[in-house]
Amino acid sequence: MIQAIRGAKDILPDSAASWQFLYDVCKKASEQYGYSELRTPIFEKTEVFSRGVGEETDIVGKEMYTFTDRGGESVTLRPEATAALVRAVIQNSLVQEGSVSRLWYFGPFFRYERPQKGRLRQFHQYGAECLNSPNPEADVETLLLAKRIINGVGIDSYKLLINSLGNGESRAAYRAALVDYLRARESSLSGESVRRLETNPLRVLDSKDAKDIEILAEAPDILKYLDEDSRSRFDFVINSLEKLGLQYEIDKRLVRGLDYYSHTVFEFRSAGLGSQDSFGGGGRYDGLFEQLGGKPTPAVGFAFGLERILLILEALSATPAGAPSPDAVVVCDDAYFAFGELVAEKLRGGGYRVVSDLRRRSFKAQMRDANRMGARFAVIIGEDEAAKGGFTLKDMLNGGGEQRFVSLKDDPKLEA
Ligand code: HAM
Repeated sequence: MIQAIRGAKDILPDSAASWQFLYDVCKKASEQYGYSELRTPIFEKTEVFSRGVGEETDIVGKEMYTFTDRGGESVTLRPEATAALVRAVIQNSLVQEGSVSRLWYFGPFFRYERPQKGRLRQFHQYGAECLNSPNPEADVETLLLAKRIINGVGIDSYKLLINSLGNGESRAAYRAALVDYLRARESSLSGESVRRLETNPLRVLDSKDAKDIEILAEAPDILKYLDEDSRSRFDFVINSLEKLGLQYEIDKRLVRGLDYYSHTVFEFRSAGLGSQDSFGGGGRYDGLFEQLGGKPTPAVGFAFGLERILLILEALSATPAGAPSPDAVVVCDDAYFAFGELVAEKLRGGGYRVVSDLRRRSFKAQMRDANRMGARFAVIIGEDEAAKGGFTLKDMLNGGGEQRFVSLKDDPKLEA
């Protein structure tokens, strides 16, 4: 039997309602903050991500689904949205000078990672990007939107970790200090951290290796390297969170896995998720537009991993119920199939959920099905009913006693 690709999951009818619920909560909250939906293609020219996310990141270096198409072009299944969205915004001139543009998205993304609980090769994100405000007010607003969605889906217990990477200069100064510190201890570092020390030293701060963590405990503090402007932006964000009652923890080692960030970075974590405990993350990315050939456009945003949000809801037993049962099942003599569908269509036109038998089975088998599907009513059609232009409505509740004739002439109602 052919199986799905490892790490790519079918969304079965049982969980379709949960996905619809997530979409509805995300859409409603986004619109409340003035965001509009944007959908970019599933694939892009590879350079959108290699230039946007950064050659030295794990995403670009190890995790992209990249192939050469029949025209010889290198294309990549999108591993994240932000770079693709910025490409689309530049191409379609969606940011007007002097005004803020707010965009949201919801859809599948692809990363070649080792699948495990909460880590897939095709996963889904909701994200929001606030474009063209250089001010930390925008950082605060996106955090409020994120909180509204987290609470809106029913999650109360989680952690918001926040840090600042500062601007380019303060980050470069910090990087130099960190490299000096780590070089002096290189022989004790894990192989992965030694490699990162060469390619992307800030990512060493992310190491999960016990010995690395011990060494990092004494590493230089990124917040001490912020220049005045970077420090006052960070203070503004933190003070606003305090005033607005948003709980947070400063995590000086939070650097995130994408190269486009500057200033504020943050992540949402949930203890119930195990090792893949981050269910969302984001930050400011003031340089990305220029990197992708656009005008300087400061921006900030975040994305949630929706499978991880569903895992949290499952643990809380808070996922919505599946598809509703039909209001009625049409139990029809084969000879009157078309009349049966006429009746069904009339009822559907009135807003009811009505299901017909398509297998030419006995009356008894059809009644059994109506019961199994949990339908409240059977709509019975035989020679008599067809001749009189209506149907027999049978109430399936209470052992299915009551029945009466309903004519199609009036607006037929499914009522006991
Ligand atoms: P990210 O942290 O790479 O950020 O991904 C955001 C979220 O997507 C993660 O917190 C996680 O919940 C989920 N996620 C990532 N990889 C997987 C996977 N393999 N399986 C399941 N879930 C996964 C970004 O993608 C940025 N574009 C966020 C952003 C928007 N920054 C600014 N604007």
